[in-house]
Amino acid sequence: MADTLVFSSPLDDPDAWEGALREALPDLDFRRDGDDFDPDAVRYALVWAPPEGFFARFRNLQLIINLGAGVDALVARTDLPPGVAVTRLHDPLMARMMGSFVLFSVLRIARDIPAFEAAQRRREWRFIEPRPLERTRVGIMGLGELGLHAAQECARQGFSVRGWSRSPKDGTGIACFSGHDALPDFLSGCDILVVMLPKTPETVGLLNAERLALLPRGAGFVNVARGAIVDQQALVAALRSGQIGQAVLDVFEHEPLPPDDPLWSMENVLITPHVASIALPGSASTQIAENIGRLRRGDAVVGAIDVARGY
Ligand SMILES: NC(=O)c1ccc[n+]([C@@H]2O[C@H](COP(=O)([O-])OP(=O)(O)OC[C@H]3O[C@@H](n4cnc5c(N)ncnc54)[C@H](OP(=O)(O)O)[C@@H]3O)[C@@H](O)[C@H]2O)c1
Repeated sequence: MADTLVFSSPLDDPDAWEGALREALPDLDFRRDGDDFDPDAVRYALVWAPPEGFFARFRNLQLIINLGAGVDALVARTDLPPGVAVTRLHDPLMARMMGSFVLFSVLRIARDIPAFEAAQRRREWRFIEPRPLERTRVGIMGLGELGLHAAQECARQGFSVRGWSRSPKDGTGIACFSGHDALPDFLSGCDILVVMLPKTPETVGLLNAERLALLPRGAGFVNVARGAIVDQQALVAALRSGQIGQAVLDVFEHEPLPPDDPLWSMENVLITPHVASIALPGSASTQIAENIGRLRRGDAVVGAIDVARGY
């Protein structure tokens, strides 16, 4: 019997994913949610925000693939079938795209670009002495697939980079801090803080007013992870008081950011609409094809996320 992959996403282009997966796995039976197919043949689900109860009719499901790196919405669902492996996308091009966005954000702040943009609007020739990059300490919170790559990109440019993760990391070439006890030390040495943690019960609200106050006064702040990791009211207060000097925000507690949100009109904030990185079917399909191949041979999938841990 054919093994079927069912696709469901309100955001992603099914044709692009079908084309990329057919190239990697020519015999895969690719179906869209809503097509006419035998639910018992479905072994794999490639999904982003599928409808409530989506998984219930697929009794032979072996693998759920989240169409993205952040699995927070998927693992928070109450209708996930127990015992079915869940993977997120691993895509070197997604990591590269994210790395370039983080580098842009950090350089924007470190090279005083917002001050030059403001001066240009006033037709003012305002000289600010450039600082050597190694004197700017960039802290990356979360040294996972995307975070570590971004940290290494910043280090390659010459920034003085430190990272924070749950478990200790060796051999990354980055100064690593781990665990909650190390958080105050980590934060107090970040001239620019970049949030790249997953959203989990442990990280929601982690960057509250007290922790933002641990940053050096006037620090830069970049969030490309999830809005809920930061207390948004505390962030606005820190931006107003000057505790945070500049921010680049790609993610928000509520998306789209409501039109009346105070962040929109803050001079020291750059807002982008959750565009830091996307998975690209051409490169991400390799990892999906590998895991399907493993399941066909009776092997376990690689890179399954820990549903209970949340990432
Ligand atoms: N804005 C966008 O366009 C966009 C695009 C893609 C992804 N994202 C976001 O980026 C996030 C990060 O992606 P990724 O692939 O790098 O994630 P990942 O591979 O899952 O890595 C997560 C990192 O965070 C650390 N971590 C998790 N919980 C922690 C805790 N409680 N305390 C300290 N460290 C903790 C982990 O520590 P260990 O290494 O010790 O496990 C790991 O280093 C995603 O979850 C997603 O939300 C955003």
